[in-house]
Amino acid sequence: MTGARPSGSSARKGVFISFEGGDGVGKSTQIEKLASVLCAAGRDVVVTREPGGSTGAEAIRTLLVTGDKDRWSPETEALLMFAARRDHLEKTILPALERGAVVITDRFADSSMAYQGHAGGLGAQAVDALYDFVVGDNGPDLTIILDAPAKQALARASSDRAETRFEEKGGAFQERVRQAFLDIAKEAPARCVVIDSRAPVDDVAAQVESAVRGRFPDLFQG
Ligand code: TYD
Repeated sequence: MTGARPSGSSARKGVFISFEGGDGVGKSTQIEKLASVLCAAGRDVVVTREPGGSTGAEAIRTLLVTGDKDRWSPETEALLMFAARRDHLEKTILPALERGAVVITDRFADSSMAYQGHAGGLGAQAVDALYDFVVGDNGPDLTIILDAPAKQALARASSDRAETRFEEKGGAFQERVRQAFLDIAKEAPARCVVIDSRAPVDDVAAQVESAVRGRFPDLFQG
């Protein structure tokens, strides 16, 4: 499955890092903290998100995160996610990596595997096929998976009341999402690091930094 793929493209100049996890695990706070440490070290840092991250992908995002929770079948939902992802790669991620930037994305293809493939019931094979077509060897070098029990995470999920489609799918769905991320990490230990996000924010940030430093020590030298 997608999670088992070799990480990143060896030819790339920049570094591609994705953050993954269920809704409300605190990804955006941790991304901000990592980005500011890397900026302070003089790196060119691009922070982006999925679904979204380019003009076309943000338009598709609106279709995905608003409206009735059963608005799309898992198949349609996956196709929209990967259509957005292709635009995001073409317009934002690949040009930034090409010039040597550190790209940090809030979610990438592991979210499609967890939400549509596993929790949504589409199956790993379909997501793998889309991955091959859309992403190929342009996947992340490192994936940080922030983990927390779904119930706890949902309590602090998105404050944007317009974007509740996925949160409304309920606790059992979110628990399947959590388990899927843990399975992905097990299948791709060279790419993925799981961090317990229930720890205090600064402790989680220290663990994130040490995971990135361990993999890419040069990024922290000014
Ligand atoms: P996001 O804005 O990251 O939500 P949150 O801040 O709550 O983590 O993502 C919106 C929703 O889209 C989120 O519930 C997860 C879902 N999603 C998928 O189902 N598949 C995907 O491939 C991606 C990228 C996101």
